[in-house]
Amino acid sequence: MFKRLLAIAAVLVLTPAVASADPIVIKYSHVVAEQTPKGQAALKFKELAEKKFPGRVEVQVFPNSQLFGDGKEMEALLLGDVQIIAPSLSKFSKYTPKLQVFDLPFLFDNLQAVDRFQAGPHGQALLDSMSDKGLKGLGYLHNGMKQLSANKPLHLPADAKGLKFRIQSSDVLEAQFKVLGANPQKIAFAEVYQALQSGVVDGTENPWSNTYTKKFYEVQKYIMESDHGVLDYMVVTNAPWWNSLPADIRKGLGEAMTEAINHGNKIAFDEAAGYRQKVIDDKKAEVLPMTRAELNQWRKAMAPVWRQFEPEIGRDVINAALKANNRTAMKAASNTK
Ligand code: LMR
Repeated sequence: MFKRLLAIAAVLVLTPAVASADPIVIKYSHVVAEQTPKGQAALKFKELAEKKFPGRVEVQVFPNSQLFGDGKEMEALLLGDVQIIAPSLSKFSKYTPKLQVFDLPFLFDNLQAVDRFQAGPHGQALLDSMSDKGLKGLGYLHNGMKQLSANKPLHLPADAKGLKFRIQSSDVLEAQFKVLGANPQKIAFAEVYQALQSGVVDGTENPWSNTYTKKFYEVQKYIMESDHGVLDYMVVTNAPWWNSLPADIRKGLGEAMTEAINHGNKIAFDEAAGYRQKVIDDKKAEVLPMTRAELNQWRKAMAPVWRQFEPEIGRDVINAALKANNRTAMKAASNTK
């Protein structure tokens, strides 16, 4: 009997040692191409995390909706089938309506303003706004400002009337096209190319890196330089899983993530112009600049969307976003002196 007890005790003592010899496997799933800011940030996280914890942590990155598409990835995260995802900020409204601020058309003047808002108190608070749903925001990751594309030139808002546009699963984006008299359709990212090619939709909106790497410009005749909104991400993890990690690993992974996000953000800032140029050079779609007068018409046409969503988002959040633009304006003015 005593021998048996000893044997059981030995098993109990040995079990944690055996278990800790297995690396912690972290699945990081996303929907875009590897060379994009998000794709590169995910690979950088793998590199840094595995370097910090050799043999203790293994990161498996799944790009291009290989593991989960955007319709399923959040559910998979909450079920523990994947540990890190980075959905666009447009895909969180089920979890917190405040993040809809990022979809308001013509709210942010440029990516620098988005960056300042995200770094400020309102932006930082939003990272924790879904903790009651089991989601922890590890940081914001940039992609870029969106361009409108279609099979006919869109100079004025009336040109979009009656057209079908693919949108992400966002009620704000739905309202943005409805207010133009257009017909928005929520379609998963992995299906966009085919939807454009087969004529299921006539147009869409996306930043340059996605338009280029997913070849949307091959199946769109015109891309309008509208910069009318932003497509950025929140890197999120399953909060109970994150909190269950050994403290040193959690700390180290947090640091690796911050560095990986900085790496991705630098790519987003540095390479957007390059992707735009590649689309122009390929000559498959015509890139149309938009005049300030034209943009003002679009801004005016889409303005009702702000009023529609203000109660859900909160005026304080919208004002903080506007303030991030003001600082741009002030900085620009002082630079020109
Ligand atoms: C989209 O669905 O258009 C984007 O959210 C894809 C992405 O992750 O950039």
